[in-house]
Amino acid sequence: MVDSWVDSAERIGADLHLEPAGPGGRRAALIRALREAVRSGRLAPGTRLPPYRSLAADLGVARNTAADAYAELVAEGWLTARQGSGTRVADRAAPLRPAERSPARTPAPARGPRHDLLQGTPDASSFPRTAWLASYRRALQQAPNEVFGPGDPAGRRELREALTEYLARARGVRTEPGRVVICSGFAHALRLLFAPGGAVLRGPLAVEAYGLEFHRELLAAAGVRTTALPLDEDGARVDLLGRERAVLLTPAHQFPTGGPLHASRRAAVVDWARARGGVIVEDDYDGEFRYDRRPVGAVQGLDPDRVIYVGSVSKSLSPAVRLGWMVLPERYVDGVLAAKGEREAWASVLDQLSLADLISSGAYDRHVRRMRQRYRARRDRLVEALAARASHVEVTGVAAGLHAVLRLPSGAERSVLRAAAEQGVALDGLAAFRHPATDMAAQDGVVVGYATPSEHAYGAALDALCRALSPSARPARASG
Ligand SMILES: Cc1ncc(COP(=O)(O)O)c(C=O)c1O
Repeated sequence: MVDSWVDSAERIGADLHLEPAGPGGRRAALIRALREAVRSGRLAPGTRLPPYRSLAADLGVARNTAADAYAELVAEGWLTARQGSGTRVADRAAPLRPAERSPARTPAPARGPRHDLLQGTPDASSFPRTAWLASYRRALQQAPNEVFGPGDPAGRRELREALTEYLARARGVRTEPGRVVICSGFAHALRLLFAPGGAVLRGPLAVEAYGLEFHRELLAAAGVRTTALPLDEDGARVDLLGRERAVLLTPAHQFPTGGPLHASRRAAVVDWARARGGVIVEDDYDGEFRYDRRPVGAVQGLDPDRVIYVGSVSKSLSPAVRLGWMVLPERYVDGVLAAKGEREAWASVLDQLSLADLISSGAYDRHVRRMRQRYRARRDRLVEALAARASHVEVTGVAAGLHAVLRLPSGAERSVLRAAAEQGVALDGLAAFRHPATDMAAQDGVVVGYATPSEHAYGAALDALCRALSPSARPARASG
């Protein structure tokens, strides 16, 4: 018998990994998925299942749906439910009706990794559904009819006003609503700024030697040549900026290595932009999540005429919302609007109104505060677990954000990634983020997205990560 949910979670590998799908509604799909997990032996006899409330939250279904699914499977004999010991897989889980099986079973389809520690997404089970719904309802009730006509490419005034106030308060951004343009996220902002034949920015563009490959590809597809700025302990070496016309930086929390851009470098890059007529594109992708001291304000606040500030809700709410904003120097506003087109064709006007309400009602702040506490607690658990079980690994970049970088000895990255895969852990290595043309020495490490798993899957994911990092897990096939 397995004694606690946490123990069993570790034993079975994180959460239940159910993917309810198929005909008949959510309840029927969940029953099928649970039944199959027991029948196939993936959930062993005796395994304690999470409380139905946690299961409902993780899968994004109503509590009644999860409770009904458990009740149905208890009735069928697959599960048992006893006061005080929760719901468990029946000891001799056998179907009440004989299962229809063909004699030779086809092998189960290959499963993906069981523990998702890939950086990039916030905890999807924490999306503030109730608050979003309340904001959406209010926005819809109050919206004048013109909302349902073609949208203004600048974005709804309500949202631009709410953001102007919020960004000043939370990020030290200095602007007014006329300089804010709504877009569908950072990637969209890059496309608008560097639209081929557009009137806004052209290459060459300096980028950090480590960054998102997706963004480099997007720039390359737009015909923008990028040069790579090496990084050191103070952030990007902006003193090496040369003939570029623009520089793309992640000053609050270098992506992915994790440090803030040092104050002297922030001042230096603004000086460079003033002296050379250049512009800084500031990617403030997770600026709200700083744990150990007050947030590092946006560089934009130093000179609103030299910085294009870009943010989105992809880390604070969800990348599925596809809403972001650009805060522009006056001279770029018309060019960006021209690149956007005559009417709003990207960012749902109703979602814009909903976000405006979420921000101005205070619900956005409350959500960010709650998530900051939650992620900080996860960050602390990660640091503690590694100190106890993988003390040879150096943990960096943990003062802020939703991911940490574990530094590894030179040549160890690939073998750690292999060991992680063997433990069912999905992770990125630092090499995946390295600019192909940089001459900066390669750094070995892995990037741990500690915000990604749902709350009750996190312990098992950490456990598997520690197993992968244990020195005995690695060297056999390590080639470097
Ligand atoms: C470095 C970086 N910039 C920006 C973003 C946000 O991108 P988007 O707003 O296009 O979802 C992310 C991911 O969330 C990121 O990792």
